[in-house]
Amino acid sequence: MTTTICFTNNKGGSGKSTSCAAVGTALALMGRRVLLVDGDMQMNLSLSFFDEDTVLQYAVNDHNIYHAVKNEKDLKPYILKTGTEGLDIIVSSTLMSSVEMELFTKWQRETILKNLLKNTVSGGEYDYILIDAPPTLGTWAVNILTASDRVIIPVEASPWGLFGLANMFDFLHQVQGISPDTKLLGVLVTKVDERKNYYRQTMETLEGLEEIHVFDQVIHVDSAVEWAQDASQTVVTYKRSSRSAKEYMALAAEIDALCEE
Ligand SMILES: Nc1ncnc2c1ncn2[C@@H]1O[C@H](COP(=O)(O)OP(=O)(O)OP(=O)(O)O)[C@@H](O)[C@H]1O
Ligand SMILES: [Mg+2]
Repeated sequence: MTTTICFTNNKGGSGKSTSCAAVGTALALMGRRVLLVDGDMQMNLSLSFFDEDTVLQYAVNDHNIYHAVKNEKDLKPYILKTGTEGLDIIVSSTLMSSVEMELFTKWQRETILKNLLKNTVSGGEYDYILIDAPPTLGTWAVNILTASDRVIIPVEASPWGLFGLANMFDFLHQVQGISPDTKLLGVLVTKVDERKNYYRQTMETLEGLEEIHVFDQVIHVDSAVEWAQDASQTVVTYKRSSRSAKEYMALAAEIDALCEE
């Protein structure tokens, strides 16, 4: 069975793309078969595996999520291999900036992505499909959520990190009206800096929220994350001995165990 998980939060810079790329890579290194889907015009997930020239080339030759959505084409032919065994990806494009307009005129516009992924899901070739969402809550975000069985909300351990989280929960709740099987897997605390008290404050606030699962594993601020991104890699393959790589490996195991429950 394939479990589809999205990384979403309308708050920008909360660690969605970094976490989606690293968790996907970690799951693949654990022997899981993983497909990543880059749903953001910023192409940060794509850039975690290919350099800018290569990603832009996929944009030119129409081999990306935008063209699949625009033409309502099954996603299978858009799947590319990454350098990691068992880890594939569908890249994004800057043209995703107009995805809302493309969706506007479509029939059943909330479930286009779910339908495009249908053959890939039912084919059972992947244990996990991980989708990186943009920091916006429009019809495309609804598409990403309705296509997902589970939702991970990364939040930054900072004063504004939890700002807007209530909106995110409301949005998820509304989507569950049309997609009751979409469930929150958990809130992931990222960019933790223990020298700052905000980490503890963030954890206390989150622990006070009823019926919201917070992952045991948090991700600390680590310069290896940025060096890895500079090298078009995830930290898990770039520097396996780094703190954040170890944390993402442990997080992937936690996610895998939760999904098997
Ligand atoms: N653990 C970490 N240590 C250091 N820097 C990090 C860490 N996690 C993420 N970052 C940095 O924080 C920034 C935001 O991270 P990322 O792009 O993953 O967030 P995002 O939620 O996907 O952002 P957006 O909302 O723009 O899509 C990036 O520059 C990234 O390099
Ligand atoms: Mg992102």
